[in-house]
Amino acid sequence: MTTARHIYWQSTHVSRRDRERLAGHRGAVLWFTGYSGAGKSTLATAVEARLHAAGVHTYVLDGDNIRHGLCADLDFSDAGRKENIRRIGEVSKLFVDAGVVVLTAFISPFREDRARVRGLLADGDFFEVFCDCALDVCESRDVKGLYKRARAGDIPDFTGIHSPYEEPESPEVRVNTGENELEACVEQVLAALVNAGVVSDAVLRS
Ligand code: ADX
Repeated sequence: MTTARHIYWQSTHVSRRDRERLAGHRGAVLWFTGYSGAGKSTLATAVEARLHAAGVHTYVLDGDNIRHGLCADLDFSDAGRKENIRRIGEVSKLFVDAGVVVLTAFISPFREDRARVRGLLADGDFFEVFCDCALDVCESRDVKGLYKRARAGDIPDFTGIHSPYEEPESPEVRVNTGENELEACVEQVLAALVNAGVVSDAVLRS
């Protein structure tokens, strides 16, 4: 929805298909979702490394990084998270139009917000990757020490403690990041991309 008036859509000579032809693969969004500490960023960056090595154009949008810049004005209230995901959805759509495989690593706790991003994109462009790791495992890892601080009352609205996480009901990929090795999870995500024809198996193995 736009509130701006008197604006027009400017068309360009170079289309998404032209860019994709040049790149040799389709653009797509790999939307990693899960608790803080579930391994979203680790998995997204590992998948990106494999794709990049195979000559695929990629970019990672990561929650912690984006909240330093584009979304530095947003908090962790429900409304703040909603706007965070809305912006990332729009940015992801631009990346797909650029013919890039964009990998996003945001908790993105609300089903409705993830569904809205899916709705921004064409069928087959959006892959929801649920990093399925039990809250107690994320909390016991506590890589950034944030769960401890949230339990102590230092961080309000912490996901899993004071703020909900709504699990995906039918994600394109469900990776058990709580129990499986990173490499197995990477292969699972890559297989989904190959199955959907985003990249070819031959390209990935080259
Ligand atoms: S989201 O809910 O809006 O999708 P996002 O992925 O951008 O969250 O940011 C999550 C990261 O911010 C966490 O990995 C953690 O490092 C940090 N963080 C700081 N405060 C909170 C909080 N209240 N809840 C969850 N994560 C938080």
